[in-house]
Amino acid sequence: MAETEILVPIDSEVDIISARRHGRDLARSAGFSLGDQTVIATAVSEIARNILMYAKRGEVRFRVVNDGDRCGLIVVAADRGPGIADVDLALQEGHSTAGGLGLGLPGARRLMDDFEIVTAVGEGTAITMRKWRGK
Ligand SMILES: Nc1ncnc2c1ncn2[C@@H]1O[C@H](COP(=O)(O)OP(=O)(O)OP(=O)(O)O)[C@@H](O)[C@H]1O
Ligand SMILES: [Mg+2]
Repeated sequence: MAETEILVPIDSEVDIISARRHGRDLARSAGFSLGDQTVIATAVSEIARNILMYAKRGEVRFRVVNDGDRCGLIVVAADRGPGIADVDLALQEGHSTAGGLGLGLPGARRLMDDFEIVTAVGEGTAITMRKWRGK
C-alpha cells in the first residue's frame, strides 16, 4: 500500500472536527476496526483541542506506515505555543492548568499504542502517537 500523508492545520474549532474526521477516515481506509477508528478519532480530537486551547494554532499530520507485516497509523501534532514545563505532571490524570478535567493527554496516551511528547517552554510541543492495526 502506498503511504498516505494528510496535513490538517489547526486554527479554529472546526479544524478539531476536521482532524477528528480525517483520523477516522484514514483509519477506516487502512483497515482499522470500527473500535480503533473511534479510539484514534478520540485521541486526535483531544490533542487537537489542546493545540487550539494552549497554542492557538498548529497542525496535525497523519501517516499510514507499513512495517513488515504490521500496519500503523501515526499522528504527529505540533505547535509553536508555550510548551509544557513538566511533562510528567501534564500526563497525570486530573492535572490541568486551565481548569479542565486534565484527562486529555493521559486519555490519548492510554488509547494509543505509542505516545511521545517533545516540548520546550517558549518553543512549542510535538506529540507523536501511533496505533497498530490488529490482524
Ligand atoms: N499543546 C500544548 N501546549 C501547551 N501546553 C499543553 C498542550 N497540551 C497540553 N498542555 C498542558 O497539559 C495540561 C494537561 O492537558 P490535558 O489535555 O490532559 O488536560 P486539559 O486540557 O487541562 O483538560 P481536558 O483535556 O481534560 O479538558 C494542560 O492543562 C496544559 O497545561
Ligand atoms: Mg486537554
